[in-house]
Amino acid sequence: DWTVESFVDNTVRGIKERVGDRKVLCALSGGIDSSVAAVLVHRAVGDNLTCIFVDHGLLRKDEGAKVERIFRETFDVNLIKVEAGERFLGKLKGITDPERKRKIIGEEFIRVFEEEAKKLGKIDFLVQGTLYPDVIESGTDTAAVIKSHHNVGGLPEDMDFELIEPLRDLFKDEVRKVAAEIGLPDEIVWRQPFPGPGLAVRVLGEITEEKLAILREADAVVEEEIKKAGLYKEIWQAFAVLPNMKSVGVMGDDRTYAYAVIIRAVNSSDGMTADWVRLPYEVLERISSRIVNEVRGVNRVVYDITSKPPGTIEWE
Ligand code: XMP
Repeated sequence: DWTVESFVDNTVRGIKERVGDRKVLCALSGGIDSSVAAVLVHRAVGDNLTCIFVDHGLLRKDEGAKVERIFRETFDVNLIKVEAGERFLGKLKGITDPERKRKIIGEEFIRVFEEEAKKLGKIDFLVQGTLYPDVIESGTDTAAVIKSHHNVGGLPEDMDFELIEPLRDLFKDEVRKVAAEIGLPDEIVWRQPFPGPGLAVRVLGEITEEKLAILREADAVVEEEIKKAGLYKEIWQAFAVLPNMKSVGVMGDDRTYAYAVIIRAVNSSDGMTADWVRLPYEVLERISSRIVNEVRGVNRVVYDITSKPPGTIEWE
């Protein structure tokens, strides 16, 4: 019968036998699936695994540094962190359409990943954090599965490698158990879903460094207060959005004209439908007063009370 320990042992042994002393590549996002897959493969093949983490400049506050610390220091994984923020922001300059943003980010991600992968020479295997529900959704045809994952995961199509998918028999709750068993920290085990295009779909309209900086600070307050209130694990996603909109406010004797920040918190079981969370007023109050006091450039906080449908979880 299935236990977490036996799953880890068998999976690591299986990967070791399959890979031998060949080379393995992994695109690390810092999300739970790719993290667990990477650590399992690392246990099996050690330095024959290289992880590439692309920082597209659209991550949350300290996110890139945290991922780097966990994998480089705690797990001693061969990690290449690509600082591609300027490159992505350059491509996104002047772009306001949400789907255009996604497309640009997806394409650029593949380019950056391929460039880094090429520098490594011959790669035999690619690690993917595919879960059982992804396998079902994509059908049983392996080619179709690979194809769809290349599309959603944004991985190169013309690279010649075999896939290693250590999680393809698991559901999310089982992945969490495996993650805890192999020593991944709570911040990864319990991390709320975060979209691949990152803050690009939460900075509405054109993306600028200034807007990203404001959103990062506001979002960090939301996360901190939700955690302090003991609600983080219960909520599917809670985050801040920066609309492309300023409003008039007052501070002391002065009139201000600054950004509004939207707070979004939803519960969901799969992201397909969602209900807005009835956050306690006290939590909303702390979030609001901290953001207007601590985040320069923001003078108003509003709470999104729309469920999905008709509202999507993200604003773009
Ligand atoms: P929506 O906004 O469509 O989001 O209600 C449903 C879930 O999907 C996430 N999401 C994305 N994830 N790339 C991703 O990897 C994307 O472009 C993307 N858009 C939305 C969203 O965070 C929520 O969990």
